[in-house]
Amino acid sequence: MKLGSEEHKQLFCQDFINSHLPYEPETMAFPELNETELDRLRRIPFWQIALSTEREAGMMVSAMAETIDDPEIRAAIALQGEEESRHARLIECLIRHYDLQVEEPPTPVLPKNVRLAFTDFGFEECLDSFFAFGMFGLAREANYLPESMFTLFDPILDEEARHIVFFINWITYVQAQNGRANLFRGAHSALHYGRALFNMGKMVLTTDGNSGGFTATGAKTFVDDLTLPQFLSATIRENQKRMSKFDDRLLEPRLLPRLASIALKATTLLPKRANEMKVEASS
Ligand SMILES: [Fe+2]
Ligand SMILES: [Fe+2]
Repeated sequence: MKLGSEEHKQLFCQDFINSHLPYEPETMAFPELNETELDRLRRIPFWQIALSTEREAGMMVSAMAETIDDPEIRAAIALQGEEESRHARLIECLIRHYDLQVEEPPTPVLPKNVRLAFTDFGFEECLDSFFAFGMFGLAREANYLPESMFTLFDPILDEEARHIVFFINWITYVQAQNGRANLFRGAHSALHYGRALFNMGKMVLTTDGNSGGFTATGAKTFVDDLTLPQFLSATIRENQKRMSKFDDRLLEPRLLPRLASIALKATTLLPKRANEMKVEASS
C-alpha cells in the first residue's frame, strides 16, 4: 500500500471508525474503593490538567472536523472530537464519584488557527500517550489501585492509541497529497515534536505538583524508587502492546519509542548510581 494513496486513506479512516467503542461515562460502574485506595486516587497529580486538556481537545478537534471537505476524514476527526469530549465527561464523572479536589477550569477558547492547533495537539498526544501507557502499566503491576479500576480505564488508553495512530497516518497522507517528499516530512515531524517537547517542558516548569505535566511527571506517584531503566522499559513495552493491536499496514508513532530505546541502551553504559536517579529528573 502506498502512503498517501486512496487505499491508505480508506484504511486509516475505516480502522479508526470501526474500532470506536460505544459507552457513556454517566452509566459506567465505578468500583468501590477503600480509604487507602481513595487516598491513592486523590494523590494522582494530573486530574486538573487532564480535565482542561480533554475539554479543550474536544472543542478544538470537533471544530477541525468542520473544516475538512473529504467525507471520510471529516467523519473520523468528528468521531475523535466526540471521544475527546467523552474523556472530559469521564473525568468529570470520576471527580464527582470519588470527590476528587479539582477546580473548575476556565471555559476553553477555540484557537484562531484550528489546523495548526490540531497538528500541535496530535504531536503532543504522541508524546503524552507514550508516557501514559508506560505509567499505566507500572501502576497496574504495582497494584496501585484495584484491578477493576485498570480494567475500566484500559479501553480509554486504547482510544488514545487510536488517536495517535490516526494522526500520524493523517498527517503523512496530507503531506504526501501535497507532494512533500519523505525528507521534508521527517523535518516537519521533528519540528512539531520539538514544539510539543517545548510545550511539555514549559508545563512542567511553570506549574506546581498538582497540575504540572499531564503524564511525564506522574510516574513517581505509582512506584517508589523507580529507576530510569525501569521507567524506560515500561514505556517501550506498554507502547508495543498497544501498537500491536493495529493493522500492520498503518504507520505508528516511532520517534519516542526510538529515543526511549536509545536512552535505555545508554543507561546500561552508565555507572549504577546514575541509573538509580529518580525519574522526575528525566521527565
Ligand atoms: Fe483524550
Ligand atoms: Fe486523544
